[in-house]
Order: sequence, then C-alpha cells, then structure tokens
Amino acid sequence: MQAPIELFSATTIATRVAELGARIDQEMPPGPLTVVGILRGAFVFMADLVRVIPRTMTCDFLGVRSYGDATLSSGVVEITSDLGTSITDRHVLLVEDIADTGLTLRYLLDVLWARGPASLRTCALLSKPSRRVIDVPVDFVGFEVPDKFVVGYGMDSGQLYRNLPYIGVADG
Ligand code: IMP
Ligand code: MG
Repeated sequence: MQAPIELFSATTIATRVAELGARIDQEMPPGPLTVVGILRGAFVFMADLVRVIPRTMTCDFLGVRSYGDATLSSGVVEITSDLGTSITDRHVLLVEDIADTGLTLRYLLDVLWARGPASLRTCALLSKPSRRVIDVPVDFVGFEVPDKFVVGYGMDSGQLYRNLPYIGVADG
C-alpha cells in the first residue's frame, strides 16, 4: 500500500485550526459551549480544535455510521452512540471531519435541533462542495477540497490512516 500523497501538512492544518478556533470564539453566541464531535472521523480534529477555543465548554460525542468501509455514501445515517448529556438551551457546535454529500450533517442537524438547543452551528475541517446532494449550512470550514478521497488526521479508508498527522489523498 502506497503512502497517501500529502494535501495539507501538519503545520498547515495547525495554522488553520487555530484560525478556526478564534473565529468560532468570536462568532458563536456568548456563554458556555457544548462541542459535539462526530465519531470516529472528527476525533483528531476536535481534540486540536477545542484547545484553541478559549471558552468554557463541555465536550460530547455522537457515534454515527454512514459509510461502512466503502468510500461511497450509502445515504443512510445511523446513530450508533448518542450524546451523554442534554443540549437543551445550550450553544452547540457540531464538529465533523468532512462535509461530503452533506447527508450526515443534515440528518444530525435535524435530530439535534429537535432537542431545543439555544443555538446550533456546524464546523467541518474539510468540505467538498462539488459532492453536495443536500443543502446544509457549514458555518465554519477549514479547507475546501476537490472530489478526491482523503485520509489522515482522523479520516480513514477502510479504518486505516486515521493516525496520519497530515491529510493526504489515498490513491493518488
Ligand atoms: P457525508 O457524505 O457528507 O454524509 O459524509 C459522511 C462521512 O463520510 C464524513 O463524515 C466522513 O467521515 C466520510 N467521508 C466523506 N468523504 C470522505 C473522504 O474523502 N475521506 C474520508 N472520509 C470521508
Ligand atoms: Mg467517517
């Protein structure tokens, strides 16, 4: 298996994540946040992001399955592990690794809005606008990427590569 070809270096990612953290702090309504990471892909990004948002916050996670081990969206989103805390009346930031078709974010936004948060915003490290099949707001985007399958920094191909410190293209 060839090493993925680098698209964003660890340094480039860190610089951008710091900018995102500052913007999130400026633009989210004042008060404590609940930052919700979508597992598993967002775990590395979220770990870095929460440390550059200088706010009182709680962290929680949603386990979601939409892809299996294939690289094509099934269009079906299933919550495999729900939040451990209530988000009612909280300012919520939903953190995703990559907004691709948008189906995952759309589904989760609908589920979370129904729980009565005070506000709800979305942040995706990467976005592939050309792949979107449903309209969904991504309030904070790290980088827009072309229609290539990317791995690393939490993102996988067949569960591999999540531990790469950079983001690369899996098959050239
Ligand atoms: P959606 O198509 O926007 O619903 O994306 C669902 C999920 O697919 C994302 O949260 C990612 O975990 C995964 N995904 C989409 N594109 C890629 C990619 O290029 N590499 C790795 N995972 C991806
Ligand atoms: Mg994923």
